[in-house]
Amino acid sequence: MRRTIDWDDGAIVIIDQCALPGAYRTLRLHTVTELVDAIRRLAVRGAPALGAAGALGVAMAAAKPDADEDAVRAEATRVADARPTAVNLSWGVERALAKLPAGPGAVLAEALAVLDEDEDVNRRASGHAAELVRAHAPDRPVRLLTHCNAGRLATVSWGTALGVVWHLQAEGGVEYVLADETRPLLQGARLTAWELAEAGVPYRVLPDSAAATALARGLVDCVVVGADRIAANGDTANKIGTYPVALAAARHRVPFFVVAPKSTVDNTIPDGGAIVIEERDAEEVTRFAGQSTAPEGAAVFNPAFDVTPVDLITAVVTEDGVFRGTLRNPR
Ligand code: MRU
Repeated sequence: MRRTIDWDDGAIVIIDQCALPGAYRTLRLHTVTELVDAIRRLAVRGAPALGAAGALGVAMAAAKPDADEDAVRAEATRVADARPTAVNLSWGVERALAKLPAGPGAVLAEALAVLDEDEDVNRRASGHAAELVRAHAPDRPVRLLTHCNAGRLATVSWGTALGVVWHLQAEGGVEYVLADETRPLLQGARLTAWELAEAGVPYRVLPDSAAATALARGLVDCVVVGADRIAANGDTANKIGTYPVALAAARHRVPFFVVAPKSTVDNTIPDGGAIVIEERDAEEVTRFAGQSTAPEGAAVFNPAFDVTPVDLITAVVTEDGVFRGTLRNPR
């Protein structure tokens, strides 16, 4: 299977996530400006994939024949600033930038190492989480709910929350996945459903507003989601709409698992209050499929992420195992 983001002969190649599910196509990005635009448009998105994009962006800047150190650092800052919430983006940039004194070849080698490690760490993180999920329904296939897209499209390959699904599916352990559509950009309906269909996993797409009802009706054994930034205390930023799912899961005593590589953990901030939340264009809310869905000039509140407090999280799971969370057994 093709990687979501890769390096090919001086270009960054991405699966164009703006085109899915209607068309599966790749884009070749030749400049940092094209990369920054692709990140802002969410043609490449998802925290671990953004980490890879950050590292490759620095490699691309360093590979320019006339690039001096100041110029590469300026380009690196442009990439790191393209989106503020997922800490993986600046993590990837910093990792590649640290090799700059050793020359462009060393920078590219480090960026490619970020890509190579991605599948391994996410397989391990999701493997640990799969064990926790299995313990909640030991005798039958599980019924999961997820929000946004934390699959292979959000990483270089494999995925985090959907990685749990792939592990469990391999042993016949998934009855179905409920995929929140994830307003306003529909990463759940467009991308998660596409990945589940490709993998032959039974699924249903539901409006975000139906998630609490699914939990109340006992249709969900566990919630699994990814993360964009995890504070030192375990508070977790993820796609807008995650926090209400966590509230409803706690109310109905359904375990809520966050699955992410350690590169998503930001130990420089004590709690979620310090996480910068990206606010996006009003048009994402006031227009749909080329039509207006609100009066002309309507004021809009469009945060792209929310913060789920750690006391609502059963476990935050990384490649090293359980990182934080209440770990109480809600049921
Ligand atoms: O705005 P997006 O699509 O980049 O947001 C992505 C998410 O919120 C994902 O859930 C998160 O990055 C985890 S991906 C493994």
